[in-house]
Amino acid sequence: MERRPPEWLKKAVFYEIYPQSFYDTNGDGIGDIEGIIQKLDYISRLGCNALWINPWYDSPFKDAGYDVRDYKKIAPRYGTNEDAYRLFDEAHKKGIRVLIDLVPGHTSEEHEWFKASGKAEKNEYSERYIWTDFWIKGIPDRPYIGGECERNGVYMLNFFKCQPALNYGWKDPKENWMHGIDSPEAIATREAIKDVMRFWLSKGCDGFRVDMADSLVKGDDDEKSATCAVWKDLFEIRDEFPDAAFVSEWSCPRQAIAGAGFDMDFYLDHGGNGYNTLMRDFEIGGDDESYFKKDSGGNIKRFLDDFIPGYEAAKGKGYISFITCNHDTCRPSYNLDKTELKLAYAFLITMPGVPFIYYGDEIGMRYIADQPTKEGGYTRTGSRTPMQWERNDNLGFSDASKDKLYLPVDTDPAAPVADEEMEDPDSLYNTVRELLNLKRMDDSLDADADFEVLYSSEDADAFIYRRGGYLIAINPYGKEFEHTLKIRISKKLFEIGNVLACDNDGKGKEFVITSGEQSFAVFELKG
Ligand code: GLC
Ligand code: CA
Repeated sequence: MERRPPEWLKKAVFYEIYPQSFYDTNGDGIGDIEGIIQKLDYISRLGCNALWINPWYDSPFKDAGYDVRDYKKIAPRYGTNEDAYRLFDEAHKKGIRVLIDLVPGHTSEEHEWFKASGKAEKNEYSERYIWTDFWIKGIPDRPYIGGECERNGVYMLNFFKCQPALNYGWKDPKENWMHGIDSPEAIATREAIKDVMRFWLSKGCDGFRVDMADSLVKGDDDEKSATCAVWKDLFEIRDEFPDAAFVSEWSCPRQAIAGAGFDMDFYLDHGGNGYNTLMRDFEIGGDDESYFKKDSGGNIKRFLDDFIPGYEAAKGKGYISFITCNHDTCRPSYNLDKTELKLAYAFLITMPGVPFIYYGDEIGMRYIADQPTKEGGYTRTGSRTPMQWERNDNLGFSDASKDKLYLPVDTDPAAPVADEEMEDPDSLYNTVRELLNLKRMDDSLDADADFEVLYSSEDADAFIYRRGGYLIAINPYGKEFEHTLKIRISKKLFEIGNVLACDNDGKGKEFVITSGEQSFAVFELKG
């Protein structure tokens, strides 16, 4: 029988935490694990029941922790391993699952494996990374480094200079220093990463968000068939932990879910893809054609043409994960105002799949442009500023003096803060909370509930779809739209702006949906 994703994902809503910027409890200016524990009730009250925590391992932090120095040790700035285990426990008591970040493609150049690998004499780790066999023999079309180690060879990089690529082998090894994916050398790397997964799963984590999951095997074909084969082997870990969930940084559900066997695959902001057309279809200083930007002229077809094939390929096997944003992406409040954000989030939360909310997006935190780069963040730094909790010094993030903060807090006097948002019935926070409440109410908005497009158009126009027993109508435009649908509607469950459904034939078989400007509604269908 074909494997199904863990049952708990059907109702899962994730909250992504960038730990250094979430909540500082010991006054050193950096968020910590105790801070996450203290804020679990906040996350739960919002309606999220799962976390993804960005890398929290020991690291020199040249790429904000994606340069792992020790996979099994918590970075002292966040606390201890015991704090992490306590977080798993406390979260579970509140019905919250915890995914942590697995970085399988590379380590820090300061990792013990790499230090051993660079030694001249052969040892257990010599082939853990990708090395050529001569000190000036490079790697065609790939970034590599020479002259750093005593070993007679150069090594391949996976991302920054500080991140040497781990050796999962090559699809078609053409040189004698290249290994195949089923060579003992590549298998040893796989076993080492399984050991890391086993370590954290046995301590209580509920699975992993997997960094750069699509690029483990080098020289792979366009379908990533060798990387998919490696994942099938890595997923043997599920025999020991059947309830563990895995979400990939891949953004191609046909490959990641149907091919490699991930439970979820992120729909990421890649210029020109379907997700990009929804909220971020702009060049700095240029026109904005995002569908959710009022009167942008964008249409939903561009999204659907990209989304539907991936959705069909993954159906029954796993879920596409819509994100409000992540630590690599510009916050959506950069170009969308409060009403536009409400509509965009309403869409993201009611589409099929498992949604992820990036910390602070629920209150509309800003992308802070022109931030000096921090820990390899560059333009990403503006989306990584401290969470805004309350209106006091450091907006409730930390008691440290300003110069000690990981990053400055937003200095705008109008910067949104969580406790005020929670009080305001019209806030973005409360819209997200109501949407998540609605999602929990019955099965219609479960990750795997039916999805059917009822109305879409190549014009700048509304979008109407069915999820389970619900009809959902969205109109991001500044003018009213009317549509007649041969469908029975019983009652309205949720609304932003004004949407009406009028019995057109007097027999309750045909309804005219009138979507007012910038509106969203969920109706219950008659069975
Ligand atoms: C992923 C992470 C990003 C990191 C990179 C290298 O894209 O999301 O933050 O810099 O991988 O690990
Ligand atoms: Ca701290």
